[in-house]
Amino acid sequence: MTHPLPAGFVFGAATASYQIEGAVAEGGRTPSIWDTFSHTPGRTFNGDTGDVACDHYHRWAEDVELLDQLGVDAYRFSLAWPRIQPDGTGVGNTAGLDFYDRLVDGLLDRGITPVVTLYHWDLPQALEDAGGWRMRSTAERFAQYTQIAHDRLGDRVKDWITLNEPWCSSMLGYGTGRHAPGAREGDGALAAAYHLALGHGLATQVLRSDVTARVGVTLNLQPVQPASDSAQDQAAAERALMNSNLLFTDPILAGRYPALARETYAPITDFGWLRDEDLPVISAPLDFLGVNNYFPSRVEAVGYDEPDPARRTATDLGIHDVIDPRGETTQIGWPVEADGLRRLLVWLRDNYPTLPPIYITENGRACDDVIAPDGSVDDPDRVRYLHEHLDAVAAAVAEGVDVRGYFCWSLLDNFEWAEGYRMRFGLVYVDYPTQRRIPKTSFRWYRDLIAAQRTSAVA
Ligand code: FCB
Repeated sequence: MTHPLPAGFVFGAATASYQIEGAVAEGGRTPSIWDTFSHTPGRTFNGDTGDVACDHYHRWAEDVELLDQLGVDAYRFSLAWPRIQPDGTGVGNTAGLDFYDRLVDGLLDRGITPVVTLYHWDLPQALEDAGGWRMRSTAERFAQYTQIAHDRLGDRVKDWITLNEPWCSSMLGYGTGRHAPGAREGDGALAAAYHLALGHGLATQVLRSDVTARVGVTLNLQPVQPASDSAQDQAAAERALMNSNLLFTDPILAGRYPALARETYAPITDFGWLRDEDLPVISAPLDFLGVNNYFPSRVEAVGYDEPDPARRTATDLGIHDVIDPRGETTQIGWPVEADGLRRLLVWLRDNYPTLPPIYITENGRACDDVIAPDGSVDDPDRVRYLHEHLDAVAAAVAEGVDVRGYFCWSLLDNFEWAEGYRMRFGLVYVDYPTQRRIPKTSFRWYRDLIAAQRTSAVA
């Protein structure tokens, strides 16, 4: 590492329920929006679904063993709402809660801290049928579900992340339609973004009844730069920043709805769902902010897809991400530039005076990993990516940003949403036909880095 990481820095790995669990019809689980979406022809690469995924529901003990070998301090995973509260209403489902109960105990037995995400995109389909995140009632239901999860696990789970990447849930789910439930809307996507933020606030209130709980939210944020100095590109960059960051950072970290959002979106919504009295709930102090970042954003102004401003979707902003053809991109097409992560962290610190401590809750890359004839999986590009990004985090810490931990995405190769199984992000290769787990070179690299950091922190 070019700069030291602080003593006590938390090293972890992350996964999410629908991406790894499989067993979609077991233990009383009902369909989520991702079951419906992935089973709809044409929605995911190759028609892939999470029906089996990594079969983690049955192989969780083996996966805990891998975490133990990796030597992480903490494991971030998510609870499947439709396992715990199958229709999104009513009392908790014992079989679903039992599964997470065993997983939590398995982690604690090995000295690994469970970090629980309550919502990583698998909304019960029954709630989508009632309007999904477009509805205020979904935020209220999310708080009830949070109560059920906390009642069962809160004696042992202390670290709670309300939502994962509400930008994706709202803008990809209800804006571009790339993610479940696959809607392409204007007002609907903005209402969803707002109700997710409200759901976060209401769930935080529930968790605060436990004074020992540490509560945060995970946002996917971008360091945004204009592609040129032109006034058009600068204005495009402002709109991009508003949509990708401010739509969530402003309400959650500063208790305000962004002025540029009110202006930009006036043609497509009357903001009828926005209630000023919600903002103090949404912006209640947090113990930490989870930041997910994979790549930086450089934007230029382009024409809008829809010429009529009143008919635009929430993501039709007249912007285009410019990717340097000479630069490195990952298998999924994301540009590699570690300094973007440092810039993002400094931007957060400079713009939000009450910023809580930060954990990087996801970072990693897709590689075209293959099993070599000797049975090993060598992923030097991932090793380099992780190393550079951890260095960028350390550089931000050296500039005074309070970053307390880093979770690699992901422990395992898994179901990468609309990209299906073709994108591999794991430290551990999953051979899907046999479900065999093969730790990659990056797994050993990360294990050794964690061990070395511990030794140097002790010294
Ligand atoms: C993030 C998601 C995570 C994973 C990574 C690659 O947007 O939170 O589930 O798919 O991207």
